[in-house]
Amino acid sequence: MTQPLRVAFTLNSRPVEIDVDPGRTLLDVLREDLDLTGTKQGCDREGECGACTVLLDGEAVRSCLVPIGRVAGRQVLTIEGLGSREKLHPLQQAFIERGAVQCGFCAPGMILSAAALLARRPNPTREEIAEALEGNLCRCTGYTRIVDAVEAAAAALRGEPLPPADGRDAAGGSQVRVDALDKVTGAARYAEDIKMAGLLHAAIVRSTLPHARLLAIDPAPALGLPGVLRVITAADVPGLNSLEGYSRHEPLLAPVGGSLHMVGDAVALVLAESPAGARAGAAAVELAYEPLPVVRDPVAAMEPGAPNVHEGGNVLSEYDIQLGDAEAALARGDVVLEARYATGFLEHAALERETVLAYRDAEGRITVVGGHQEPHWAHGYMARLLGLPSEGVRVITPPMGGAFGGKQDPWPLMAGALAAYHAPGGRPVRLAFTRRESFDASPKRHPYRLHYRVAAAHDGSLQGLFLRVVADTGAYDADGYYISQYALVAGGGPYRWPAVDAHAWAVYTNNPKAGQMRGFGTPQSNLALECTLDELATRLGMDPLALRLHNAIDDDTVLFLGYRPAETVGYRQCLEAIEPWYREALARAAGRNSREAGPWRFGAGLAGMWYRFGKPGPISSEAHAELALDGGVICYCSAPDYGQGTTTVMAQLAAEALGLPRDCVSVVNGDTARTPDSGIQGASRSTYWVGGAVTRAAAALREQILGTAAEMLNQDPERLELRPGAVVAPGEDRLPLAEVAVEMERIGLARRG
Ligand code: FES
Repeated sequence: MTQPLRVAFTLNSRPVEIDVDPGRTLLDVLREDLDLTGTKQGCDREGECGACTVLLDGEAVRSCLVPIGRVAGRQVLTIEGLGSREKLHPLQQAFIERGAVQCGFCAPGMILSAAALLARRPNPTREEIAEALEGNLCRCTGYTRIVDAVEAAAAALRGEPLPPADGRDAAGGSQVRVDALDKVTGAARYAEDIKMAGLLHAAIVRSTLPHARLLAIDPAPALGLPGVLRVITAADVPGLNSLEGYSRHEPLLAPVGGSLHMVGDAVALVLAESPAGARAGAAAVELAYEPLPVVRDPVAAMEPGAPNVHEGGNVLSEYDIQLGDAEAALARGDVVLEARYATGFLEHAALERETVLAYRDAEGRITVVGGHQEPHWAHGYMARLLGLPSEGVRVITPPMGGAFGGKQDPWPLMAGALAAYHAPGGRPVRLAFTRRESFDASPKRHPYRLHYRVAAAHDGSLQGLFLRVVADTGAYDADGYYISQYALVAGGGPYRWPAVDAHAWAVYTNNPKAGQMRGFGTPQSNLALECTLDELATRLGMDPLALRLHNAIDDDTVLFLGYRPAETVGYRQCLEAIEPWYREALARAAGRNSREAGPWRFGAGLAGMWYRFGKPGPISSEAHAELALDGGVICYCSAPDYGQGTTTVMAQLAAEALGLPRDCVSVVNGDTARTPDSGIQGASRSTYWVGGAVTRAAAALREQILGTAAEMLNQDPERLELRPGAVVAPGEDRLPLAEVAVEMERIGLARRG
C-alpha cells in the first residue's frame, strides 16, 4: 500500500487537511472522503463527460484527472461552495429559472465550467459560451437552455435587469421544477451518492465471447484475493433466474451448461470491500467456454442453416400488414421508386451509469434504490428472482441521471437484489456499471434493414407501398417482441396508402441486446420513409412539402392500418403551419449556395411522423391523493422522474385539481412500499395517464375535504374555498386543514384515495 500523503488545501473557502493515498484523484477524495457528492462521475474517470468539473484556482478542471497531490496549497471550489440554498449564485438561479436542469446529472459540472468562463469573460457571446461548455456533456437538454441560462446569469452578474421567468402556479405554466434547487446545489442524491455504513461493492463477471457454451465457473482465484467476500452465480438464485415478462430467454446470470449469447452477458457477481477489489475479483474468476458459431447479421440470421441464437430459431416475432393489391398498384404506378436503408445500434448513454444500492431494511425486506421506469414491474421480477413474496422486496427510485428508455431494463435492480440477498452479514451493496459495461450490456436502439418500393401517380398521389423490415434485437428480446409492429406502423407514416404489402421481423443475433429507446421502433422507419418520400418528390419533380400535403391523412381517412383515427390528427395543419418557415429556410440555403464558394453546400429538410403515443392494451394507472394529519396534501404515484419532469407535472396537476398553489402539494413518486402501481412509464404516457389518475384522485380529495369542512362549519360546501392550509368560509372563517384531517380520521373517512 502506498504511504499516505498529507495534503492541505482550501476547499469551498475552508482549510482542509487530509491524509490520503497520493495516487487517488481529487474526484474520489471529494466524493468518498469529504462526502461532496455534487461532483459526479460519468465516464470511468477518463475526462470525457465533464460531470466531475470543479474549479482549481478558478480554472475549470476535470477532477477525475487531477491527482490529489496536485491540489496541495491550492483553492478548490465545488458546486456545494458556489452558492447556498438560501443565497444561490446567479448561475444556479438562472439554471433553475431558464429550465436548464432536467435530470441534473450534468448541472454541477456545467455550472462550474460556466462560472470559470464568466470570471474571465463577463459578457460572452453564445458561441463563446458553447465553446466553454464543450467539455461538459448533457444528454437531456439539447444545450439551448443551458446557453440561455449562462447568458442570463452573465447579465445578472453585470447588474443588468433580467426578464422575469414565466409561469403560473398550476397546470399550463412553464414551471420551475420541484427538484431543480437540489440539483443545482449538488444536494440531490443519486444512487451512487447515497452512503451506508458497512457498504460492500459488487462487480460483474461478463462474457468476453459473443456466443459460447459456459462449461465451468471457478471462483477460487477471486476468493483468494484480499477483500473479496463472495462470488454469486446462477446456482445461488433462490427463485427464477429469468427476466421473462420483460425479456424472453434472458437469465439474470448464465448457468453452467447454458449458453452465453453476447459479449457482456453476465455470469457472476463478486462482492468485495472496495470497488477496485470487486473488479479485481471479477477479473480473477475463471470461466471455461466452448465457443459456438456466431451470427451478427440479422438478415443472415434468418437464412436456413444460420447458427441458432436461442432454441426455436432466430425470429423472435413478425408482423404483417396487407391492404388491397400492392403488387398490382406498384406495377401500374406512374413512378416507382425502390430504396434500401440500414440504421445502426444507438446507445442511450445516460450520463449516470446503471447504479443501484441494495440492502436488507430493518424489516428484513430486500430493498433496492435505483433508477427504473417501472418500479412495480422491477419489484415483481425481484420477488420472483429471490423466491420471496411481494412484501419481501421494495424498490425506491432516487433522482436519476437520465433514462431515455434504457431504464426499463430490470437487470441492474435484479442483480442488486440478489447481491443484497447474499451479502455477508446482511451488509448493503452498491453495484455500478462502468461506462464500458454500460455500452456493452445495456439495451440499445434496434438497428433496422429496410427495403421500400413505392408507387405514385404523376400528380403525386401515393398508390402502393411494399415494405420489408428486419430489426436486429440482438442477443435478447428486451421487449423487442413488439418492435415489428412499431416498425410497420411508422413505416407507412401519416400518409394515405391505398395498397400495402408490409412485413417486419425481429431477429435474434449475437449482437448487444436491443430494447426500448426514445420513440421505440419509430425513428428508424421514419427516417427511411421520409427519405424515400424526398427521393420520390425529386423523381416526380414535385415540391417535398406539396407531396406530403397531397397525401397527408385527415381525421376521416381510413388508414393503411384499416381504421379511421377518429381523433384530431392535425398533420395537415402542422404542414401548413410550418410552410412559411420551410420556404424561408429553403430560400436562405439557396442564397448561401449562390453567394458562397468552396466545398460546403446548404439545404433545408422536411420530415413528418406519427407516433404510437401511450402504449396499446390494458395498462392501467393508479395514483392517490392524501390529506395528511398535519394538513399537508400528498400525491402518491409511480411515474419516476428521470429528468423529464414527472414529479413537477404531478404536483402541478394535483394542485390544479385541488385549486391550491403547487407548493401546497408534495409528491411521493416511485417507491413500491408507498406508492401505487401507475403502470409502464414510456411512450410519452405519464402526463396523460398517470396525470389523469392524479387529477381524479386530487379532485376526489378536494370534494372530501370540502364536504367534511361543510359538516364541521355547518355550511354549504359550494360556499367554501380551499386555500393553503385551510378551508375558508364566507366571512373569512378559517378551518385549518389539520383539523379537517383529524375529523376525517375520527369519522372514518379515508384521508387517502
Ligand atoms: Fe444534462 Fe440530464 S440535464 S445530462
